[in-house]
Amino acid sequence: MVSVATVQASPAKEVASCSGRRTYHDDMAKVLYTESVIQARVSELGRQIAQDYQGKAPLILGVLKGSFMFFSDLVRAIEPCPRGLTLDFIRASSYGSGTESTGEVKLKTDLRREKVEGRHVLLVEDIVDTALTITTVSRFLLEECGAASVATATLLDKHERRKLSYRPEYTGFVCPNEFVVGYGLDFDEEYRTLPYIGVLKPECYSHLGIEAPEPDGSGESGDE
Ligand code: PRP
Repeated sequence: MVSVATVQASPAKEVASCSGRRTYHDDMAKVLYTESVIQARVSELGRQIAQDYQGKAPLILGVLKGSFMFFSDLVRAIEPCPRGLTLDFIRASSYGSGTESTGEVKLKTDLRREKVEGRHVLLVEDIVDTALTITTVSRFLLEECGAASVATATLLDKHERRKLSYRPEYTGFVCPNEFVVGYGLDFDEEYRTLPYIGVLKPECYSHLGIEAPEPDGSGESGDE
């Protein structure tokens, strides 16, 4: 057995706190959606999805990494659970450590035609922003894997920033154009574990030359 104390570790990464703030909570300018507001909305979405997918044996596909928290809450909220429902994941990334999509969506998956062909797929996303990611994943599932249908459940829809026209079938909240993190969403891989969605203080990213987005004043529930 290897003793932790005897392992020669690499030097620990410096914990980069913004001006001495010690926790992720301290980096929030405000909380946009509290844990209880999110959970209430997830329950509504789950019930709606359960109804819509009865008899369809859906394949619920989490788009990693950002969706991991929404995914695990949503699948438990799909009640009564349709028979034949199965789960899987696909890894998609296009943002690197910046705030603007690189425009190139990289997919990593072992999903093949035999797992997907003829299935009704529900993609689960934390956020649809430019829609480049969701469009790329949907196209892969329909064109290369032969899915019978592909729909999307996203917790946040930041539709103001669309580069491609796309309307998710299930939306938790229409999100204002703010720098949001938490509940799976990251900034340079941090903040994902926060149980709520918050807006990051500008001083947490301004030193990197990143400007605060211009809020557009939207921010309603997606239940239109
Ligand atoms: C985020 C998010 C969505 C995508 C949405 O993923 O989880 O998948 O961006 O943006 P878009 O609509 O502009 O394509 P990211 O590439 O940051 O990877 P992550 O899920 O690992 O955070």
